[in-house]
Amino acid sequence: MASARITCPTLSTKVVSAQEAARHIRPGHRVGISGFTGAGYPKAVPQALAEQMRVAHAAGEEFRIQLWSGASTAPEVDGLLAEVHGLSKRLPYNSDPDLRRLINSGEVEYVDAHLSHSAQHMWFGFYGPLDVAVVEVAAILPNGLLVPGSSVGNNKTWLDRADKVILEVNSWQPRGLEGFHDIYNGTALPPDRRPVQMVHPMQRIGDPYLRVDPAKVVAVVETDAPDRNSPLKPVDEDSRAMADLLVDFLRHEVRAGRMPASLLPLQSGVGNVANAVMAGLLDAEFEGMTSYTEVIQDGLLDLLDAGKVTGVSATSFGLSPAGVKRFMENVDTYKGRILLRSEEISNHPEVVRRLGIVAINGMIEADIYGNVNSTHLMGSAIMNGIGGSGDFARNAFLNFFVSPSTAKSGAISSIVPFASHVDHTEHDVHVLITEQGLADLRGLSPSARAERIIAHCAHPDYREALTDYVARARAARPNSQHTPHLLTEALGWHERYVETGTMRP
Ligand code: COA
Repeated sequence: MASARITCPTLSTKVVSAQEAARHIRPGHRVGISGFTGAGYPKAVPQALAEQMRVAHAAGEEFRIQLWSGASTAPEVDGLLAEVHGLSKRLPYNSDPDLRRLINSGEVEYVDAHLSHSAQHMWFGFYGPLDVAVVEVAAILPNGLLVPGSSVGNNKTWLDRADKVILEVNSWQPRGLEGFHDIYNGTALPPDRRPVQMVHPMQRIGDPYLRVDPAKVVAVVETDAPDRNSPLKPVDEDSRAMADLLVDFLRHEVRAGRMPASLLPLQSGVGNVANAVMAGLLDAEFEGMTSYTEVIQDGLLDLLDAGKVTGVSATSFGLSPAGVKRFMENVDTYKGRILLRSEEISNHPEVVRRLGIVAINGMIEADIYGNVNSTHLMGSAIMNGIGGSGDFARNAFLNFFVSPSTAKSGAISSIVPFASHVDHTEHDVHVLITEQGLADLRGLSPSARAERIIAHCAHPDYREALTDYVARARAARPNSQHTPHLLTEALGWHERYVETGTMRP
């Protein structure tokens, strides 16, 4: 008999084991799953599938699939499917270290896409057909409507587009999540698109439920398993310094009349540094703030709890285990103050531009002219992916990229002569922050930017070498003073690190 979470008479007849459900997924299938930053991913079917892949591989049969998601999942999905060598292609975002290794070794193809693009590219037909969707929900209502779980991501698109649908109903997801979601159903294809009518971060433009054609549902699986979010690093001295710089800068913007005293809606990226920077706002004087963002990390929950932020729109939670516990124990108190939307809306360029978002994202490195690399290590190996950083940064009212000035105990400078990969071009980047200082690049020429970035953001151990690089580049080509470079040396710092283990001269 189906649990109390499944009250739809039609769909309750489809309850089967995870093993049986997983048999609908065949070698070569394109599979769209739920899941975003460790929240709301299917807990049972991927594990059963991995076992079936293991058996097939032991029998000498190839069993690999293409896996599409909202964003990152958890070790039980990406990690496990990597372990059994079950993936041929992955999109649009991954942060699992085992899968990262397979991508970087060339075993798995990876399409690192702007998250706001992933749903529409599916609708445009750019990714081809979708065979199966596996989507976790919190409950199925008597009329067949689905109560979404702790993330929305691309679930609406996967449910609409897949030939077959497997639903996982997870009793661990708080039943009180009903009413936290706003699922927009108005997206049409060009040339019939209409404006997304949102003028406030907490405005509802859709329904609290996901819909699915019951005829496509081939299996319903019951689970009772927690999301496995990664713990965040404790806020350290460097992060605190970056947070202080950011808060001071926001004060300066308010004083200059460029922003209201309650600021503009905040977006904070994934990762330790972006999370820590949000924590800095806790002690600041700003009240009545809002957030229009992708992921709710602990820092934002703190701001909500303190009453400093009045409402948060996102597509997913990305809480530490302690943050999850706090949310679960107080679900009802957050209702009406948190809205979860599809990622095509949470990251929508049109909405981000209209609301005037203040975007704060981590980075791997920036170059002296302000190009930012969010994704690649030493120009070639993927770290995570661009995620929503491009959706927000390019369209933001004001954007910040934050990072410690060095990585790997000082062997790597995060400020380099030439970014080894560019995700955010010099035209898109407004403010850089490291623990050394802040560089406001707005309205500056490339040469002026270089001086400011080196003076304010570079670590003292690398400042002189960067200044020397610029001076020699300027001297080398008198008629190329706009963005002077020494072409054979521009990536020399990265080459030195790869060869010697340090960028130090
Ligand atoms: N070269 C090599 N490694 C570097 C590096 C560099 N220039 N800069 C950072 N790293 C490494 C760190 O050493 C650390 O490695 P570890 O996990 O082995 O300790 C790791 O990258 C994470 O760095 P950390 O300083 O802790 O920052 P973070 O957790 O804030 O993550 C990004 C920074 C860039 C990886 C992260 O923000 C990201 O994935 N961004 C892209 C997606 C994005 O911005 N999404 C937001 C949209 S809502």
